Order: sequence, then structure tokens, then C-alpha cells
Amino acid sequence: MTKPLTDRMDRPLRDLRISLTDRCNFRCSYCMPKALFGANHAFMPRAELLSFEEITRLARIFSTLGVRKLRLTGGEPLIRRDIDALVGMLAEVPGIEDISLTTNASLLTREKARALKAAGLNRITVSLDGIDDPTFRAMNDVNFPVARVLEGIDHAEQAGLAPIKINMVVQRGVNDHDIVAMAGHFRGSPHIVRFIEYMDVGNSNGWRLDQVVPSAEVVERIHEQWPLEAVEPNYRGEVAERYRYADGSGEIGMISSVTQPFCGDCSRARLSAEGKLFTCLFASSGHEVRDRLRAGESDEALQQYLAGIWSRRADRYSELRTHDTKPIDSRKIEMSYIGG
Ligand code: GTP
Ligand code: 5AD
Ligand code: SF4
Ligand code: SF4
Repeated sequence: MTKPLTDRMDRPLRDLRISLTDRCNFRCSYCMPKALFGANHAFMPRAELLSFEEITRLARIFSTLGVRKLRLTGGEPLIRRDIDALVGMLAEVPGIEDISLTTNASLLTREKARALKAAGLNRITVSLDGIDDPTFRAMNDVNFPVARVLEGIDHAEQAGLAPIKINMVVQRGVNDHDIVAMAGHFRGSPHIVRFIEYMDVGNSNGWRLDQVVPSAEVVERIHEQWPLEAVEPNYRGEVAERYRYADGSGEIGMISSVTQPFCGDCSRARLSAEGKLFTCLFASSGHEVRDRLRAGESDEALQQYLAGIWSRRADRYSELRTHDTKPIDSRKIEMSYIGG
């Protein structure tokens, strides 16, 4: 490629987020509510999922289009067997500078953390919506204790998977009473807690604007307790706004997708577990990639197909929604399908 690939808003393709499964052992009410994801829910059949070889081949092609960062997500990616083998394969792909994993950490044993690190995983991000045990057990809706997630985080730290980020989706009236305690728990540690504004992803969570706690309010509540200072972004298009404790006790982040959308710099593409490509978290449909792979298309043909999709991209859902302040009425994919 001579001219770098960009979309219609001049945004390069830099990040590829790969969902490995639509399954999860948690039932967070805003993501996989039990009423919709019960015992009879039809998850994707095994044969539909991209194999590790298929994922790696696609990562190679995406790397030629500009992708430098890979993130493995789910559902819960650690449900997929042998994912350290996949990480090892992806670590060999030329051009990839960073491989990370988003997980609920419930299955992150010491051995798993070590194996992932040895295979080439750089870091992990842990979803943890509360530090207060009853609140967290209610939110994951499978009565999973905070203490076991904290063990998973310790295993990751000991294995050298750093920096560790902890993502808390804040919902008013559900876990917003736990914001300061969450910050307090990780203050003084090298881990970075990020407070995420609850978004209207998917169709199943019944999102309402009044459930969103604006990041400005989160900053204010923490700042009252421990003064904060804003920090410059690490890189262009960083999703989180960074803050540090004025007394040097570490860093936190705010992800303000509702009150301050960041579509202008969005360089992220998302690949579902069954091999569909989504150019926005809020897209209602994806582009079929797996069938082309399985039909024997050449790398060159796939590269052209994917470049064509990116060059036609004009998505900026969060910005458009902000002007409306209500969810844009359309069928959207679920977060458990595309992995955040
Ligand atoms: P780093 O590489 O560590 O900077 O990761 P990140 O902050 O880009 O990614 P992460 O997966 O940790 O994202 C955290 C949360 O931000 C997600 O769970 C989403 O809630 C939100 N988010 C991430 N990417 C997007 C995006 O493209 N659009 C919107 N609207 N929200 C996003
Ligand atoms: N709004 C914001 N973040 C969400 N996540 C899942 N659903 C939502 C939502 N509605 C986050 C999870 C996890 C990541 C995969 O996406 O908490 O950190
Ligand atoms: Fe699972 Fe994460 Fe969804 Fe919770 S938010 S149900 S942990 S995928
Ligand atoms: Fe990117 Fe779509 Fe999120 Fe905007 S809403 S930042 S375009 S994924």
C-alpha cells in the first residue's frame, strides 16, 4: 500500500477487535439479561466460529491495511479453549505491536495468565462493575464474588500482563454508589480504573439516558475525596480521558461515549466470532468475511474487499445519537456478540 488506507472521514484503520465467542459465564443485566440469554438461548454453533488459523490469516491481511493493535474479546474470551495458542499465532503476525484481552477474569488462573504472557499477550483489561460484593454479585447475576475477580487480577499482575485496566460501567441507581470505593480500592496500585458511561448498545438492555452518570460527575465525586489532575492522552484517538491523583497515587480514566463521543478519531474495526466485520459498535449488520475465506478467496482478493469496506466507512453513531439524546431507532447488534 502506498497511500495509507483511510475511511470517508479520513480515519485510518489501526485497531482490530476480535470476538472469540458469544458465550459468557456471567449474565450482567445490561449485556446478557437472563430473560433473553436463558437456558434455551441458541449460541453460535462451534463450526460457525472462525478457527484460530482463519483468525490469524485475517490478522495478517488486516495488518497490511494498517492494523497495529489487536484486542481479543467475547462474550468471555477465556471460555474459548487454548486461547494462548491463538495468542502465540497472532504474536507472529508482522506489524502487530500490541495484543490485549478484555475479560471478566473469572477464569484467569495463575497457569492461564502465565501461558497467555508466554504466548505473547501484552496486557489485559478486566470488566469489574463494583467493588462492593453484594452489588457486584447482583450485577453479574450469577452470584460471582468480587474476591475471585481480584484473584484473577493478581494472577495477571504476577504474570507481568501490565498495565492492567479495570473497566467499570456505571449505571445510576445500580452501582454509582460504588464509584469512590472502586477508585479507593485501586488507588496506590499500578492498575488503571476506567469509569465508563453506560451506552445504548444492543436492543436488550432497555437503556435510558437517565441511567447514565456523566463522566464529569464521576470526576467530581472522586476529586472531592482525592484531588485529580488531567493528563495528556497516550495516543491520538485514545478512548479514555486520563486523570492522575495529585498526590501521586496512580491514574484513572473516564470513557465518555455518551456525553463526549469520540467518533472523530475512531480507528476501530470489529470482527465477530462467526467472521462478520463491523465498522461501528452500533452497526445493525456486518460484512460477511468468513464465507469468503471458506470459499477459497486469495489474500489479495480479501485485502481488496476489506480495504473497500473501510474506505466506504462513514460511521459516527455516538456523535449522531448525542444530537438526538435518545437511542436511534434501529436494530443493533448485542455487546455480547461484538465484545465492546
Ligand atoms: P486501550 O487499548 O487500553 O486504550 O483500550 P480501549 O480503552 O480502547 O478499549 P476498551 O476495550 O478497554 O474499551 C473500553 C470501553 O470503551 C468499551 O467497553 C466500550 O464501552 C467503550 N468503547 C471502546 N471502543 C469504543 C468505540 O469504538 N465506540 C464506543 N462508542 N465506545 C467504545
Ligand atoms: N455500555 C458501556 N459499556 C458496556 N460494556 C458492555 N455493555 C456496555 C454498555 N451498555 C462493556 C463491558 C466490558 C466491555 C466488553 O464492554 O463492561 O468492559
Ligand atoms: Fe459477560 Fe462482559 Fe457481558 Fe458481563 S459484560 S455478561 S462479563 S460479556
Ligand atoms: Fe467508532 Fe461507532 Fe464508537 Fe463512534 S460509535 S467511536 S464510530 S465504534
